[in-house]
Amino acid sequence: MIRVIFAVETHMGYSNKGTMPDWKSTADFKHFKESTEGQIVVMGSKTWEDPMMKRPLPNRINCVVSTRDDLINADKINHLISSQDLVSQMRLLERTYPNKDIVIIGGWNIISQCLPVIEKVTLTVMYEKYETDKRLPLGWLIGYGLGKTFKLSDGKGKVVEYIK
Ligand SMILES: NC(=O)c1ccc[n+]([C@@H]2O[C@H](COP(=O)([O-])OP(=O)(O)OC[C@H]3O[C@@H](n4cnc5c(N)ncnc54)[C@H](OP(=O)(O)O)[C@@H]3O)[C@@H](O)[C@H]2O)c1
Repeated sequence: MIRVIFAVETHMGYSNKGTMPDWKSTADFKHFKESTEGQIVVMGSKTWEDPMMKRPLPNRINCVVSTRDDLINADKINHLISSQDLVSQMRLLERTYPNKDIVIIGGWNIISQCLPVIEKVTLTVMYEKYETDKRLPLGWLIGYGLGKTFKLSDGKGKVVEYIK
């Protein structure tokens, strides 16, 4: 399955000054870890280089999308993807790893290019107010149906699944 996991504040903000807001939620961290461990994670170069990110994400195959030559030999990256056609690249990953999920972890730049093949979106909405300068656009989930919804165990947010 090709799916997305992403976290936002209540106005769909997901990033501030080039880094992810510090959600300070151990439950969200645990949920992200459990949803991605053992799987293939795909991210853009800006997400890969975000100081908030652990590089590489352990126990996962780390795929980074970039046009930059200097990342070719970055030994922590399992696959460097540098194609304009990310849809085909996601299908290729699916064929290469038939027993694993392809989990796109952001940012929006990468998610938006992969939309035609994304079957499930797991969105964590954090309740507190966070300063952000990048927001997900309205309406991008049109065409998806509502799946499971549950509160994070630490009460700091909720998880909403959207399924195609
Ligand atoms: N809240 C969350 O859950 C969450 C999750 C992930 C990220 N974030 C935040 O989101 C921000 C980054 O998101 P973003 O959308 O701006 O950037 P991004 O998706 O992380 O990375 C974009 C970069 O990917 C490369 N790229 C994109 N399409 C490509 C293609 N078709 N072929 C080759 N390379 C391609 C380009 O890098 P090059 O210039 O290297 O070619 C581009 O600048 C960061 O602040 C990050 O912390 C938040």
